[in-house]
Amino acid sequence: MKKDIGVGLLGLGVVGCGVAEVLATKADSLAEQAGLPLVLKKVLVRDVNKRRSVGISPNLLTTHSEEILAHPDVDIVIELIGGEHPAREYIEQAISNGRHVVTANKEVIAKHGYELLSLSRKYNTDLRYEASVGSGIPLISSFQQDLAANKISSIRAILNGTTNYILSRMSQEGLDFASTLKQAQKLGYAEADPTNDIEGIDASYKLVILSNLAFRAKFVPQDVYCEGIANIAARDFLYAREFGYAIKLLAIAKRDDDKVEMRVHPAFIPRDSQLAEVNDVYNAVEVETDLAGKLVFYGEGAGALRASSAVIGDVLAIARNIYRGANNVPDLKLDRRATVKPMSELKTRYYLRLNAPDRPGVLAQISKVLGDNSISISSVIQKESDPAAQTAIIVIMTYPAEEEGMQKALKQLRQLTVVNEVSNFIRVET
Ligand SMILES: NC(=O)c1ccc[n+]([C@@H]2O[C@H](COP(=O)([O-])OP(=O)(O)OC[C@H]3O[C@@H](n4cnc5c(N)ncnc54)[C@H](OP(=O)(O)O)[C@@H]3O)[C@@H](O)[C@H]2O)c1
Repeated sequence: MKKDIGVGLLGLGVVGCGVAEVLATKADSLAEQAGLPLVLKKVLVRDVNKRRSVGISPNLLTTHSEEILAHPDVDIVIELIGGEHPAREYIEQAISNGRHVVTANKEVIAKHGYELLSLSRKYNTDLRYEASVGSGIPLISSFQQDLAANKISSIRAILNGTTNYILSRMSQEGLDFASTLKQAQKLGYAEADPTNDIEGIDASYKLVILSNLAFRAKFVPQDVYCEGIANIAARDFLYAREFGYAIKLLAIAKRDDDKVEMRVHPAFIPRDSQLAEVNDVYNAVEVETDLAGKLVFYGEGAGALRASSAVIGDVLAIARNIYRGANNVPDLKLDRRATVKPMSELKTRYYLRLNAPDRPGVLAQISKVLGDNSISISSVIQKESDPAAQTAIIVIMTYPAEEEGMQKALKQLRQLTVVNEVSNFIRVET
């Protein structure tokens, strides 16, 4: 007879400390729900002498992964190291040793999810990853179970708290990107190396994970078109507002017949839409389905306790199965018809901001380039002139046009002698 469910923790950082704390403070309630106590057997760290935000017996700490991955009393390995390596290898080893795995690692799941899930089927173990997208917002299990009968046609989401915080501050305070990023770093909302967040890479990992569940596919991060927020200027928010829009870093996946478009980029969205109201470090995911209609999931997408909620939820689900001797590993049934739609086929409206000489005839040349590429202008406004430099800012909104034509037009506009600079171009998501 088993006396307890053994848990091995890989990583004792922000989330690891949160999970260790919840396992200790909620021990009785968790044991009641699981049927057996959940007992932390060993914790992997890099530095055993580091101060931790959670009280933990030094005897539990180790720097040797095998002490967890091959520990005879560990039933569930929780991977909270982050990054691709060695996290992926540790997860593989744990599964191959017959252990169930819970991970919060979006990078590993986005890049290797299908292979790892296949491996877990082979070894008849469970691999769960609820915390990998939206932290405590229950997304993965909702997609896997509650929405399984639905045909999902689109996902539009704000999946990165750091960029949403930066864009919210820029919009509300009229600040520029660089100083807002610094402020976010000071407050701990952005990492010292913010590349993955501000370039949209983090959001693209999360979009891949949701898309694979929604469309039963095995897409990888390279399938997602990805553009970050570093080019957004304070004045883009002013002009967006004039047109009735907010600017958000959106992660979008849409299925049209068998083609799936997946993209992460800054987008104009109507100011009265629900996503436009999502500010600061909050995340939101809007899903269009045939049966359940339109759903919006909303909540804080980061933080020790938020992520712990999802991690421990996964642990409990596995623990209950262990206690009952049940095997609840879902099948991996791919829909092989789903293929990636090339970005060049996207059709949407565009916002363009140009810097040009303030003189007659300039607009005519710009309009001609757009017209030659089948792009119709819906409105054009000449903003702020600089009399000293004899330049003006020209803001253009187009009717829906094809991305391929827009990219050609951008190239040609950059070569026009009457255009000093194509300062920004942003897609409109209505
Ligand atoms: N932070 C959040 O709010 C949040 C939310 C949702 C999901 N996640 C995901 O959760 C995971 C963990 O994030 P985190 O913020 O907790 O990271 P973190 O604070 O950087 O903690 C990482 C931990 O892993 C340990 N570690 C790293 N590399 C190691 C290695 N090669 N060998 C042994 N130990 C190693 C570190 O040990 P030392 O402490 O000894 O250096 C540290 O304890 C990531 O996948 C992240 O994407 C985070």
